[in-house]
Amino acid sequence: MTTDAAADAAADAAADAAASFASAYGGSPDGVWAAPGRINLIGEHTDYNEGYVLPAALPHATRVAARRRADGRVRLFSAQGDGSVAEFALVDLAPGSVPGWAAYPAGVFWALAEAGHPVGGADLAFSSDVPTGAGLSSSAALECATAIALDELYGLGLDAPGRALLAQRAENAYVGVPCGALDQMASSCCVAGHAYFLDTRTLTGRQVPLDLPAVGLSLLVVDTRVKHDLGDGAYAGLRAGCERAAGLLGVRALRDVDAAGLAAAEERLPVELRPLLRHVVTEDQRVLDAVALLDAGDPRALGPVLTAGHASLRDDYRVSCPETDLAVAAANAAGALGARMMGGGFGGSVLALVDADRLAEVEREVRGAFAAAGFGEPQTFQAVPSQGAHRVR
Ligand code: GLA
Repeated sequence: MTTDAAADAAADAAADAAASFASAYGGSPDGVWAAPGRINLIGEHTDYNEGYVLPAALPHATRVAARRRADGRVRLFSAQGDGSVAEFALVDLAPGSVPGWAAYPAGVFWALAEAGHPVGGADLAFSSDVPTGAGLSSSAALECATAIALDELYGLGLDAPGRALLAQRAENAYVGVPCGALDQMASSCCVAGHAYFLDTRTLTGRQVPLDLPAVGLSLLVVDTRVKHDLGDGAYAGLRAGCERAAGLLGVRALRDVDAAGLAAAEERLPVELRPLLRHVVTEDQRVLDAVALLDAGDPRALGPVLTAGHASLRDDYRVSCPETDLAVAAANAAGALGARMMGGGFGGSVLALVDADRLAEVEREVRGAFAAAGFGEPQTFQAVPSQGAHRVR
């Protein structure tokens, strides 16, 4: 998509959100905001170990048209939902009180109020083109769109990281998913044309220029359409394993073990925790390596870093699945410079770094491999590093 076409698509999507608002509630919204999904170049399962991540925002976003209400009530409507409106009073909110997709925005109202922000009622209508359950952070997009809309509607004076942390709190404490800060920080803080190098311990970050088309490269996303569910206990189990390992090693988080100390630290852990430590330590190093390569103007060299990250997620962290393994193998066999699964795992999407002139061939080969294996048809698209949460109109 050209920049103009992307701008047109975003304007259309914002108009859709406003139209949904008018049909659900009547009248016009006070404003329309957008928050994107994300890719992650490298740095998986490092965020809850206080390590490093390197995401970029997608053009795919959740748009929300919103209007203040004076009576402390909230109404939530989604153009992708079943046509119903979720409605509740702010004062009645308690973790888990609103079910389904509406739990994510409801959780943001709850987190804002719990943190003492003077948020009031509102009518919100959402429209999203972020693929769900694809490891592309559709939940964070929903939360961060809500957070920026409420921040501006009620003049709360939050900044992008502040909104992200409240969105993460909503997901952890209201929805009940023990995620780290990667997704919400990416959705809130990313800048178009850049990857966001974030230290999840200090929550300080740096925008790293990422103009791949200028050097003839593309980022291909392969959504395997295999749905993951972070709430199913596997993610929480991995996180608990990392925390147990950190406790046994006497460090605050696995981030505190570096590559030089890895072998000695492994010796001090029970056998089943060693691969978790190995993944986290080597993955943190891969993020630092990737940033150094981008800083040095050598993005082609990211390819092997991505593929090594996939091997680590597959063999040590064990969150891959046959579909993501096949997408990585087929992309690399077709000439991708490197590829890896993204997100929590057990399905979701694969990211491949590809020479722009080989893109069609890599896509074709991946599709062919899926068909030959009897897997469902994947969705593919190019990831263009886009803008984090912002006001649209
Ligand atoms: C999910 C979580 C993130 C992060 C990734 C794995 O996307 O929401 O916090 O842990 O998995 O890197």
